Amino acid sequence: MIRTWRLDDARQTLALGSREGRCPEVIYWGAPLPEREDLPALAGATQLDVTGGMLDENPDLSICPEAARSFPGQPGLIVRDADGTPLLPQFSLADDSQTDTGLKIVCADLVNRLTYTAEFTLDPATHVIAMTAELTSDRPLHLHWLAAPTLPGPQQADEMIDVAGRWCGEFQLNRTAWSPGIRYRENRTGRTGHEHFPGLIVPCRGATNASGEAYAFHYGWSGGHRMIAEELPDGRRQIQFGHAARMETAAATTFKTAPLYAVYSSDGLNGCAVSFQRHLRDRIVTWAKPDAPRPVHYNCWEAVYFDHNIPKLKEIATRAASLGAERFVLDDGWFGQRDDDTSSLSDWEVDPRKYPDGLGPLIDHVHEAGMSFGIWFEPEMINPDSNLHRAHPDWALGAEDQILGRQQKALNMALPQVRDFIYERIAALLTAHPVDYIKWDHNRVLPMPDAAQTRGSYALLDRLRADFPHVEIESCASGGGRIDFGILSRTQRVWLSDSNDALERLKMQHNAALFLPAAVTGSHVGPRRCHTSGRTLDIEFRAWVAAQRHMGFEMDPRELDSREEAVLREVTQWWKANRHWMYVADILRLDSADEAVVAELQLAEDGAQFVLFAGKAATSTQIVPRPLRLTRLDPSALYEVSLRNRASASHLSRGQQALKNGPVTLSGAALMHSGLTLPWSFPESMWVLEGRRL
Ligand code: DGJ
Repeated sequence: MIRTWRLDDARQTLALGSREGRCPEVIYWGAPLPEREDLPALAGATQLDVTGGMLDENPDLSICPEAARSFPGQPGLIVRDADGTPLLPQFSLADDSQTDTGLKIVCADLVNRLTYTAEFTLDPATHVIAMTAELTSDRPLHLHWLAAPTLPGPQQADEMIDVAGRWCGEFQLNRTAWSPGIRYRENRTGRTGHEHFPGLIVPCRGATNASGEAYAFHYGWSGGHRMIAEELPDGRRQIQFGHAARMETAAATTFKTAPLYAVYSSDGLNGCAVSFQRHLRDRIVTWAKPDAPRPVHYNCWEAVYFDHNIPKLKEIATRAASLGAERFVLDDGWFGQRDDDTSSLSDWEVDPRKYPDGLGPLIDHVHEAGMSFGIWFEPEMINPDSNLHRAHPDWALGAEDQILGRQQKALNMALPQVRDFIYERIAALLTAHPVDYIKWDHNRVLPMPDAAQTRGSYALLDRLRADFPHVEIESCASGGGRIDFGILSRTQRVWLSDSNDALERLKMQHNAALFLPAAVTGSHVGPRRCHTSGRTLDIEFRAWVAAQRHMGFEMDPRELDSREEAVLREVTQWWKANRHWMYVADILRLDSADEAVVAELQLAEDGAQFVLFAGKAATSTQIVPRPLRLTRLDPSALYEVSLRNRASASHLSRGQQALKNGPVTLSGAALMHSGLTLPWSFPESMWVLEGRRL
């Protein structure tokens, strides 16, 4: 006997089945099945055979695989009674309910007195399926591991792609072959981290950015996750995501996972990427001013660091505004006695030595220059050399002799008095001044993972957002150390990386677009000589790379010569003229035939226009550029394509290419099949092409 359920949208079907009243398993996930598909027959037809050296039946790969049912892989739940006795749950289907887009499955273990509830919500517009698992019991238990509903990994995949990184090197993709055993990633740093972005992509054989089948996953939690991608001895594959293990430090009667966002695509990695981009932008982020254009930022960090001097900051603000900046962000250094990074975190009062009349005069100046004002905080942190630490050393998280990170400790965010203290300091500043933006930093890992810490941070953010709904928040953690859909349900921008090196950024942005839309991805034009790589890059390249995402500047504008100013002004004007449609465009990674070219197409929501950015990250092996195929155009429509920055062509580009002389008109079919052949260019440069459907 099998009971079945299905969730459908235009792109996919997810079907579950419960055999003999046991915890259900996913029996199908992929391209849409016809309505009349007989799901019990499908379940029967896909069952694996049994031979020698096996159990007499294959244990279910259920949404919560159970060790006590002989499941040969990692279980979905590891839990102990309050006295430490391990429990071995065996669930039976107890209840279920379904809507057009949602499915709730309740399973009970009467012997161990446990209830397991899985919820699936399919968004038919973005095609993202969000799923959570919850465990409840009638007495407090210790949780070791609870996976969000376990999904099968596709059999037609040879490899999986996950995301690692480091400071100034976020979003590096790693490809690992599927083989018997586990690809196991666990982030025990207590924050999302540069090292282990909680995402996974499983491309099926032959899939590229633009074609083929792929599955993608993201765990929306900021406290560190665990991922298990396992091939069982019988060849089946399972994918589990949850909080890092043993993150719940106290016994409790209810535990719930964060949402696991999963998506199936039949048109390449881009199908997954676009789903995540849209879902994040349109469903998860709560915009402070949904209809206002994203303002061009100016951030003073790499211009002044801790050296805050009002006349200098005013001059910088005036220049930034004249270049096109619309929001001025005062970074670290305005509070306490913060002359370097050794002191003052948690003393959130304006430094009277630097600002004798408070922040008012600088803010007024910024407003007079036509910009709004944003400010930096690092709310969860405390320096031992701070007034707060002297008064409340017990408010810091972790042991007294712990290793510091950037000379600082984390505050214990589980304590309500700590949250109240930080809330009051931030609220006082937001009440006293017209501030519309907070850059919210988090520059160290935690001394140990603790889910209560993450819940405390979320509670503080939620309280501030409720009381100051007009204030936008950027999630920063030494650059991209806290980027996930959990933090992004409370913030509106991420600082992708502390690297303002356009070459590094080009690649990072390309990979981050697998999950993030342009609207949330901050990207700044940095100093001529990059402060974190030592590389010197031309202003054109720096400006166009920043214009690919939410644009800003971060250099000292006084270093710019007149050509650099002119280029920056022009690219910024271009960005402002296009941001209304780019804000909701899909970022499509192109399958470049040349490894040196990192290219993407940003396609407007209505398909009527696009911009193509082709970044030359290195010198090519072949002598002239290979054609670049576009994607997702209407094959039968005609498009006028022009090279926006053709005036930048090098004198070494000598050919008579049509694009160098003006627009070309070609069909979508031609652009997608033979592609565009771009002029020869230097490495560390960017071609920008604009397309319009005729
Ligand atoms: C780390 C951030 O990523 C930087 O952008 C800057 O805000 C510094 N912290 C300030 O201390």
